[in-house]
Amino acid sequence: MQQATRIAPSILSADFAKLGAEVAAITEAGADMVHVDVMDGHFVPNITIGPSVVKALRPHSALPFDVHLMIAPVDLYIAAFAEAGADIISFHPEAGAHPHRTVQLIKSFGKKAGIVLNPHTPVEMIDYLIDDLDLILVMSVNPGFGGQSFIDSQLRKIETLRKRIDATGKRIDLEVDGGITLETAPRAVAAGADLLVAGTATFKGGPSAYAENIRRLKAV
Ligand code: DX5
Ligand code: ZN
Repeated sequence: MQQATRIAPSILSADFAKLGAEVAAITEAGADMVHVDVMDGHFVPNITIGPSVVKALRPHSALPFDVHLMIAPVDLYIAAFAEAGADIISFHPEAGAHPHRTVQLIKSFGKKAGIVLNPHTPVEMIDYLIDDLDLILVMSVNPGFGGQSFIDSQLRKIETLRKRIDATGKRIDLEVDGGITLETAPRAVAAGADLLVAGTATFKGGPSAYAENIRRLKAV
């Protein structure tokens, strides 16, 4: 069942010189999760943060940490992010040879497991994984950077996934990541998404604007 819309600000758009304060500020401003984009400069053409930064941020918020791994090979680093304080760990199936094993590995640490579908990745990728997933993340941009434009073809994928999730009868979050604005958020929600990653749309205007930015996105 589709849940009420929740917002996961991506700290990729935060001020990296003040990350602890930024995480505290979005928590105070009504965020539902903290979305952490981990990039390795190899699986995607950008480098961001590692487990030591996640660990350092952990005391700054009681919200779940939604850790989006854009790294390959991914299995090597699951333990480090679990121990650093991730609550949900999501990975791209292209980032390892055995995605089912990766899901099991994430769950072995007592963490929620998510799979991320790139714009080109078909829904069928999850055929034999869905029952073990807590979250499915649809990339509505190619991973690597904030501030890109929403790719409309992903709306059909969200619609298909909403039906697939509802058919399981289980609680599986359907998250959308990339190019979420006040214009695209309602379209993603109408297609069936219930968790929106918002980097640019959360952090624009600085800390005094975060509460209003999040409120407007949630109200779509
Ligand atoms: C892209 C990241 C996104 C990104 C979203 O690889 O996974 O989370 O930061 O940024 P916006 O909301 O600015 O498109
Ligand atoms: Zn992300």
